[in-house]
Amino acid sequence: MLTLAVSKGRIYEEALPLLAAAGVRPTLDPDKSRKLIIPTDREDMQLLIVRATDVPTYVEYGAADLGIAGKDVLLEYGAEGLYEPLDLKIARCRMMTAARVGSSPARRRLRVATKYVRSAHDYFARRGIQADIIKLYGSMELAPLVGLADCIVDLVDTGNTLKANGLEPRELIMEVSSRLVVNKASMKMKHGAVCALIEQLSVAVGGEE
Ligand code: ATP
Ligand code: PRP
Repeated sequence: MLTLAVSKGRIYEEALPLLAAAGVRPTLDPDKSRKLIIPTDREDMQLLIVRATDVPTYVEYGAADLGIAGKDVLLEYGAEGLYEPLDLKIARCRMMTAARVGSSPARRRLRVATKYVRSAHDYFARRGIQADIIKLYGSMELAPLVGLADCIVDLVDTGNTLKANGLEPRELIMEVSSRLVVNKASMKMKHGAVCALIEQLSVAVGGEE
């Protein structure tokens, strides 16, 4: 049995066509069912529905053989304990800094609010900028509006969320997409099945371009 951890929402929706091309079709809709273990029409494969940020944990500990997670999540988790064999090129967005429209650079030590503490810290350190990183769990856009931070580090796709809150994108930190990750022991113990799936998904990704 191969187990794949995936989050509901955009990653699941965008992964469905790739999984279907690899012959994996869930037999339940996780939005309609409360089940967290979703069977597929492949007897040797099931899906685990987990929070996006929990995917690397399930895979690293071997509770799932494989997972699909955003590069943002993998960098934050520090996924050295996982293999990352394939960029699935889904759930694409950019990690960016953003600040109030027209605001000038802070005259004090920069305060940055973000869910992505590690990526933000690395980014400012690389640029030689001393910054206090303030960890938030959501609604980052609010922080510059109420004086909690000078800027934020968040994901941007259409830019609508920033715009709706009077913010503008500033610097690109990285392009983000979702990756297939594999548990290291599963790669050895279930080599044939894992590699066959990677190959099928890789063909499906190629076909999407
Ligand atoms: P959690 O439920 O753990 O809080 P989440 O709410 O961030 O996670 P999603 O919003 O489904 O979960 O995001 C999952 C992944 O999709 C992110 O890690 C990121 O890689 C990507 N992503 C997030 N926002 C966007 C967006 N606006 N456009 C495209 N991809 C995005
Ligand atoms: C994501 C991200 C941004 C928004 C960017 O939020 O955290 O807030 O998308 O997309 P945009 O540039 O197209 O507006 P999401 O919609 O996933 O909500 P959540 O993370 O708060 O659940």
